[in-house]
Amino acid sequence: MLIHSASQLLTLAGGPQRGRDLGTLGIIEKGAVLMRDEKIVVVGTSAELKSAYPDEPSLDATGCVVMPGFVDPHTHVIWGGDRANEFAMKMAGAKYLDILAAGGGIISTVRATRTASIESLIAQTRPRLLRMFAHGTTTAEAKTGYGLQTATELRLLKALLALDDESPLDLAITFLGAHAIAPEFKDDPQGYTDLVCDTMLPMLKGWWETHAPELALPFVDVFCENRAFDLEQSRQILTRARSLGFPLKIHADEFDNIGGASLAVDLGAASADHLVKTSDADIAALGKSDTVAVALPCTPFGLAEKDYTPAQKLLDANAILALATDCNPGTSWNESMQFAIALSCRYMGLTPAQAIAASTINSAHAIRRSDRIGSLEAGKQADLLILSIPDYRHLGYRYGTNLVKQVIKRGRVYSVDVGYYRTA
Ligand code: NIG
Ligand code: FE
Repeated sequence: MLIHSASQLLTLAGGPQRGRDLGTLGIIEKGAVLMRDEKIVVVGTSAELKSAYPDEPSLDATGCVVMPGFVDPHTHVIWGGDRANEFAMKMAGAKYLDILAAGGGIISTVRATRTASIESLIAQTRPRLLRMFAHGTTTAEAKTGYGLQTATELRLLKALLALDDESPLDLAITFLGAHAIAPEFKDDPQGYTDLVCDTMLPMLKGWWETHAPELALPFVDVFCENRAFDLEQSRQILTRARSLGFPLKIHADEFDNIGGASLAVDLGAASADHLVKTSDADIAALGKSDTVAVALPCTPFGLAEKDYTPAQKLLDANAILALATDCNPGTSWNESMQFAIALSCRYMGLTPAQAIAASTINSAHAIRRSDRIGSLEAGKQADLLILSIPDYRHLGYRYGTNLVKQVIKRGRVYSVDVGYYRTA
């Protein structure tokens, strides 16, 4: 199929964009893209491609921007229950880490998740993924982490594999058994850390190689933070994971700077995420590494906090910056990368072009898939969006409504907007 006549076709060609190179969109005016067998064959101008492929079935994108599908590289999209009550408490002044220390927060979602069946977890997560897809996310990372015991963490993994299988959206799965200290180990964080290292990670490796041998090993992530896993415990878990062959991620500097970002760099992690309170030394280390700095602007927004990821410092240090939603029931129940883009422009000082690159090619690199997705280039997966906007700068400028008209996933077209009302 040939998609043609796009007012702007954004290719994002050329690989991940480091530092001040961020925002290179590779715009083709009156652009076109030819796809076959789930892949992109060629991109060019509509005049070129229409004359080279005159008999190809076509889709007219007049007046629209065509771009790669969003890649959301940090979500906690699978959980049981909700925390609307805590949102109300937080807006009345309660603090996130105090609620967690009092047995609420992540732990209250853990209680609801442990009692949910796999069918219920899948049923609760499916509509979230469908909303993500409708808002233009064609690949999302998805973490476990609301089980905090071997059996429930495994149930979450199985549910995520089933959701990856059934839904048009692709998932990149992450094991986050180290999301919080399990309630049973409230007074023995080191005991829980040892359980993750000595029982959960070896079990996960064996299970994955038996049940999903065709898939690459999942990422292993740790919430490195005061009142979660300290720097030494984070190092212990990630070092063990690395020795078992898992690729790594980390939650670092969401509330306090305890050194998680430099740990991620030392261990060659694919990404370090949050990075709100990151020190200048940690920023410099990220800038010299291939560890992607993933900013989650929906999280301070969701918590009504004033500090956001210092994107300008990260870009000056030459880091690879990406954006994600952090979709989760506690700090950021948001499923739209368009909203993350809008916030990043206002609170991190990104231009729309920078935010778009951070949400496509760079976010693909944060899940180590930038060789397959994140740009419109020959040979890549045909994951793209037709947006009902004439100019890419409408992304970021406009927010709160969905600008996606059609999502194309592996070459299949899914329509999102209805365009008119029908009455009975
Ligand atoms: O990324 N920081 C830890 N994890 C999530 C929050 C999870 C929750 O509150 O349920 C985050 O913000
Ligand atoms: Fe998170």
